[in-house]
Amino acid sequence: AETHYHQFVIQATPVKRLCKTQSIITVNGQFPGPTIEARDGDSLVIKVVNSAQYNISLHWHGLRMLRNPWADGPTYVTQCPIRPGGSYTYRFTITNQEGTLWWHAHTDFLRATVYGAFIIYPKLGSSYPFSVPKREATILLGEWFDRDPMLILRQSQFTGAAPNVSVAYTMNGQPGDLYRCSSEDTVRVPVEAGETILLRIISSTLNQELYFSIANHQITVVGTDAAYTKPFTTRVLMIGPGQTINVLVTADQPPGRYYMAASAYHSAMNAPFDNTTTTAILEYKSVSCSKGPSSRPILPVLPAFNDTNTSTAFNAGLRGLSKVRVFNQIDENLYFIVGLGLINCTNPNSPRCQGPNGTRFTASMNNVSLVLPRTTSLMQAYYQGIPGVFTTDFPPVPPVQFNYTGNVPRGLWTPSPGTKLYKLKYGSRVQIVLQDTSIITTEDHPMHLHGFHFFVVGAGFGNFNPATDPANFNFVDPPVRNTVGTPPGGWVAIRFVADNPGIWFMHCHIDSHLSWGLAMAFLVENGVGPSQSVIPPPADLPQC
Ligand code: C2O
Repeated sequence: AETHYHQFVIQATPVKRLCKTQSIITVNGQFPGPTIEARDGDSLVIKVVNSAQYNISLHWHGLRMLRNPWADGPTYVTQCPIRPGGSYTYRFTITNQEGTLWWHAHTDFLRATVYGAFIIYPKLGSSYPFSVPKREATILLGEWFDRDPMLILRQSQFTGAAPNVSVAYTMNGQPGDLYRCSSEDTVRVPVEAGETILLRIISSTLNQELYFSIANHQITVVGTDAAYTKPFTTRVLMIGPGQTINVLVTADQPPGRYYMAASAYHSAMNAPFDNTTTTAILEYKSVSCSKGPSSRPILPVLPAFNDTNTSTAFNAGLRGLSKVRVFNQIDENLYFIVGLGLINCTNPNSPRCQGPNGTRFTASMNNVSLVLPRTTSLMQAYYQGIPGVFTTDFPPVPPVQFNYTGNVPRGLWTPSPGTKLYKLKYGSRVQIVLQDTSIITTEDHPMHLHGFHFFVVGAGFGNFNPATDPANFNFVDPPVRNTVGTPPGGWVAIRFVADNPGIWFMHCHIDSHLSWGLAMAFLVENGVGPSQSVIPPPADLPQC
C-alpha cells in the first residue's frame, strides 16, 4: 500500500461562466477541484490550507474513516472549522472500499464550488468484476449559481425563504453547448468505435436531483457509491446529490458525436427549480479531427422533470454484488420521518421570516430540527466529555404518530429545534426506515449517512407498514450505498452494522434542507479494546 500526499489550498479564484466572471472558492485554483486517485488499502495525507475568507472543512464523502471520525470533516459535527489563515491535515487509510467517491466542502454552502472526484482503484493484483475497459472518464455533475453561494445560503437559512435556484447545471464545471457563451468549453469524452468505456458519474449538485442519459447509447450500471452492482442496462439514470454511479458505455453507434445530457428530476411540487439541460459530448475518435458538418450532436430524450416512475424503476433495478451478506436479525429498529416544515414567526415582517405567509422554512427528522453547536464540535465535546453540548435522546420513532403521507394537519408542521444524538452500541445491527412526509410537499430526499455503507433492502410509496412491507425486503442482493433517495411520499429501508465508533452525521444531501435542520447524528460507542475504539485526535485538529 502507498501513501499519497496532497496540499489543498482553499482560495478565491475568478472563473468565467455564462459570459460573466465571478469569484468562487476553489481548491488550488481548480474548478472542479483536484481528483484524488488511490488504491484500496492506501493512505492519504491531505494538508488543507485555508487562504479564503470563510471558515471551511472538507469531507471525503463515502470514505468510511474507520475509528477515525477526526478525518470525516463536517463542520461542528466532527471538527471545528479551519479558520481563514489556518490549516489542518486530514490523515486516513482506505479500508475495503473501491469505486467512485468524491470530496467536498462541508461548511455552509461552500460545496457549491469546492468539490472533486475521489477514485479508488482495486488493490494491486485484483480487478473489477467486469472486463477492464481501456479508457475511463469522470463526469462530475454540478450546479452553477449567478451569485456567491454564501448569499444563496443566507437566502435559505438566515431568511427562512426558499433558496435561489441555479442558473445552469454543469459537467466537470462546464454548462455545455446549450447555454450562452459555453459551447467552446463543452466537455468532450473521446471513444474509439467499438470500445467500451467506464464512466464514473458523480453528483455534486447542491440542491437538485438529475436525470442523465446519452443519445442513442445504452448505459450499463456496474457500481453505486463505491460498491459494485450486477450489470443493469438502462437508457436513463437518476442521480441525487451525493451519489455516484459507475456505468459502462459501448461505442456501438455510427461514428459521430452524441450528447450526454442531464436535467432536473424535481419531485417537489410548486417549488421553483432550474429546468435547463447540461451537456457533454461523447465523441468518436474517427470524427474528432475531421471538420465535417458543424451541426449539433443529437440530444437524448430525458424524462419529464416530474417523472417519478422512471426514477422509481431505475432505483428498483439496482442489484448489489456485495460479498457481505445482509443480516436477518436486527438490534435497532428505527423509523425516522423526514420532511419540511414551517415556523410561525412572532414578527412576520422580520428579515428572518421570508417563508410563505409570515413563516420561515424549517426541516426535521422525527420532528427534531438539528441545531449544531458553535463553541465546539459534537465529536470534540464527546471525546473531551464537555457537558451540555448535546443530548442522546433522539427519538427512535416519530414522537407523534399520524398519516405521514396524507393530509397532515397544520398543527403537526412545526418541529422543535434540538441537538439530539442517537446512541448505538458497537456492533449493533441497525435498520432504519426513512419515511417522507407530505408536510408542505412530498419530496425525494437523498439521505446520506457518514461513516458507513448500508444495504438498501426495500422501498415503497405511502406509509411504511411494519406488518407487511418487510416480507418484500431484498436480503439476497440489495444495492450498497452511502446516499439513498427517500421516494416522494414514500419510504426506504436501509441496514448496516454499527462497527465504526464515533459520531456520524446523517442528513439530507439537498443543502437547503440541511441548512433548515434535516439532519441528525449517531453516536456509536466504543467496543472492547483499542481495535474497536476511536483513535485519539490529531494534534492539529482545529479548535473553535
Ligand atoms: Cu456529502 Cu455530509 O456529506
